[in-house]
Amino acid sequence: MKYWCDDSPVWSHYGNASSVLFPAWERAFAAVVKHYLPAVQDQDLKARMVQFMNEELAHASGHEAFNKRQGLEELEAEEFKRARLVLRKPGLPYWLGTMVSIEHLAACMSRSVIGRWAGREGRDYKLFLWHAKEELGHKALAIDLWRYLGHSDADLRKIARSNQAYVMGSMIKHTLKETAKDCQLRNWRTWRDLMSWSFFVTTKVLIPMLTIYLPGFHPNKVDDTKYMEVLV
Ligand SMILES: [Fe+2]
Ligand SMILES: [Fe+2]
Repeated sequence: MKYWCDDSPVWSHYGNASSVLFPAWERAFAAVVKHYLPAVQDQDLKARMVQFMNEELAHASGHEAFNKRQGLEELEAEEFKRARLVLRKPGLPYWLGTMVSIEHLAACMSRSVIGRWAGREGRDYKLFLWHAKEELGHKALAIDLWRYLGHSDADLRKIARSNQAYVMGSMIKHTLKETAKDCQLRNWRTWRDLMSWSFFVTTKVLIPMLTIYLPGFHPNKVDDTKYMEVLV
């Protein structure tokens, strides 16, 4: 079987796991931001909100096409069902808080993606690299909106705990389940990839993600110039 990412079931299913989540949740987050547009008087913040919506909707479309190529439409449809909850009440502070923590997670994942796959040629790598770079470009929008609306950091930390576990849990489960389904666990290369993937996810995503629990957290405290300068 030919795998699109590093010719590896582990890395390919990990990429697929994130892509399954993107279309539904990025469209839902665009709806959350749209809901708050009339409440925001700050013109600079408003312009960033519009840019955020446009970017997330473009990411959703790009990943819908990717998911079709990879045969992931059914799993994608399940996420659309789950995300309906957001569309029913986009103004619930819980959803904006969710967005803040997921956007932070997305920024951590983006650094890991650019760090590992920058410069790779091919449609699928380009999609993930382009997406990663735009995520870093708008990494502060959600928290700036959260604080502009007067919400507290204590509430944010509570919300972050539940949804970061959901996202990371579902991506790890998908990767392991699909790799096992392909009967790739008899292959020593798969075990080598599982080891390096576990190390990668722990050090590049799970640990950096914890900075959201530090006092005075703000995404702009991380300098991402070297990632933003990468051509994709
Ligand atoms: Fe995105
Ligand atoms: Fe984003």
